[in-house]
Amino acid sequence: MRNFQEVVYMVPRKIYPPQDAFVQQANYTTEREVFDDLQFWEEQASRLDWFAPWDQVLEGEFPFVKWFVNGKINASYNCLDRHLMSWRKNKAALIFEGEPGDQKVMTYKDLHRETSKFANVLKELGVEKGDIVTIYLPVMTEAVVAMLACARIGAIHSLVFGGFAPHALAERIKDSQSKILLTADGYWRRGEVIRTKDKVDEALEECPSVETVVVVSRVANAIRMKRNRDHWYHELMNYADNHCEAEVMDSEDTLFIKYTSGATGKPKGVVHTTGGYLTGASSTHYSVLDIKEEDVYWCAGDIEWITGHSYTVYGPLSNGATVILYEGAPDFPQKDRIWEIIEKYGVSIFYTSPTAVRMFMKWGNKWFADHDISTLRLLGSVGETMNPEAWTWFYEEVGKGRCPIVDTWWQTETGSIMISPLPGMTSLKPGSVATPLPGIAAEVVDDEGRPVPRGRNGYLVIKKPWPSMIRNIYKDTQKFLDTYWSVFDGAFYTGDGAYVDEDGYYWISGRVDDVINVSGYRLGSAELESAVLMHPLASEAAAIGMNDKNKRSAVCIFVTLTEGASPSEALEQEIVERIVEEIGSFAKPERVYFTKNLPKTRGGKIMRRLLRDVAEGRELGDTSTLLDVTVIDELMIRGGK
Ligand code: WT7
Repeated sequence: MRNFQEVVYMVPRKIYPPQDAFVQQANYTTEREVFDDLQFWEEQASRLDWFAPWDQVLEGEFPFVKWFVNGKINASYNCLDRHLMSWRKNKAALIFEGEPGDQKVMTYKDLHRETSKFANVLKELGVEKGDIVTIYLPVMTEAVVAMLACARIGAIHSLVFGGFAPHALAERIKDSQSKILLTADGYWRRGEVIRTKDKVDEALEECPSVETVVVVSRVANAIRMKRNRDHWYHELMNYADNHCEAEVMDSEDTLFIKYTSGATGKPKGVVHTTGGYLTGASSTHYSVLDIKEEDVYWCAGDIEWITGHSYTVYGPLSNGATVILYEGAPDFPQKDRIWEIIEKYGVSIFYTSPTAVRMFMKWGNKWFADHDISTLRLLGSVGETMNPEAWTWFYEEVGKGRCPIVDTWWQTETGSIMISPLPGMTSLKPGSVATPLPGIAAEVVDDEGRPVPRGRNGYLVIKKPWPSMIRNIYKDTQKFLDTYWSVFDGAFYTGDGAYVDEDGYYWISGRVDDVINVSGYRLGSAELESAVLMHPLASEAAAIGMNDKNKRSAVCIFVTLTEGASPSEALEQEIVERIVEEIGSFAKPERVYFTKNLPKTRGGKIMRRLLRDVAEGRELGDTSTLLDVTVIDELMIRGGK
């Protein structure tokens, strides 16, 4: 098979069956046999409050489908209003912990009031149903308020990751043509102020479409406020009315767009709808994350990540959960901050990433030795493959051998969890994401789209529509078709490689396309390459994701120089700088290789697979399609740490 690296896991593997204490209280316990997918999804949608019922569950076929046709619903109503009819109105919805140690609790009633007020502010500012609102906010309650306020009036939110450099922010604003941007003066990171508003000012020089900027004051640093364009959030909120009826939205109306990196240069705006998306996020948060009324739930990622959309905001709030928001760094003021927060609030469900787990493991057990983290009952992971060593540590040391780990596979495009253990039913295998959830038709296929035998690597595809699936790429249906539907007939192409073992368990081997996944941040090779090519001495560039033995992925750049230029450490630094400036420091390459030529196919396509072999120090794979074999011998290796 092309593109695939052999996956070697430790054998024999230990299997962890569900434990009685967990099973007895789990939301999903007995094997729920799903005879009919549509009936299953209909039941899941019925967990939500609808203003008007659908008259058909599913209409159309891949790639253009509609779920819960003609059903009327509002996401903000489902996350707020419906909880006000019970005692839940005074339950904590959000518990915010600032990095300096400040704390703010918002009940469902509070969140409902603030959301309604901000919805009125948006209306006052001229935002209408269908308009796009860009949200560039750090982790804070106002980010949740802003999302739910958009949803309330039918505006479409587009959250942009705070780690992006101004240019990357500008690209996303320009693509969406949004007229309004919400941001903050800054936020705290390792005791220092990150000056968010300065970045915005720089980005907006490129974005004439933005007429209004709303600024939340978090750190009260001196910032520039542009007259007639910039407004303080708290000033606008002062005068806002606190009543705002939730707009009646069609099930298929767009709830948000979320930009993500693809194989080609420009970031893609993944479009998600209201009814289907909310059904997926809410039902999986109930089944996989096993949410209960009394849980204290923490998904420790950024809100602007799809994980934050589905499992900090829409999933948990639609289920009436208490959600932790933490602003800052996990090692500030020292490396016990995460455990301190878990102890302080009695966190019971902790959903994080393999990168974070590996980091906690490296820091060591001593950091939680003095903290009572016994409230934990369920652990979760998302973003990349969890190596068995990290898994075992997380399970034994953090979970004390009591807490199941749900390793959840999904993507920005899938909207909600697709393949994962159900913690009350599934035996766990460290490193595996277990089996597709009810209603999800996953399969592993070969180059021709035929199912591969068990144990063999192939492409992970989804063969049947699911409610929270991507509906389009914003303003680019052609790209939508090319990216996901042109590889195999009648199946959604995930871009991941996987294999299924003898028990039907899925093992994800990583991206097989030109997307690089570094610590859960998704980067397109083309984005990185065009940043490198901004250096006047760079003539050609190839970016790849390189995996180490823990399956941790890092960015690696191969670059050829213009005539007469020669490699140097200074040049390497400058190239790294270009990437930091254009994309952000999270995209920093781990290695820069200078080479005289890049390996290409006769068709002129760069063979990134061979570069991956070089970077990972492997024997080269199949070179038969290589135009000039001598290129490989010439790869002169520089840099590297
Ligand atoms: C890519 C999607 C869904 C939120 C996280 C990132 C990788 C995700 C797992 C997992 C192995 C995983 C895949 C996927 N991925 N979860 N449990 N095991 N790999 O969303 O930025 O859209 O990235 O993350 O490669 O395609 P995203």
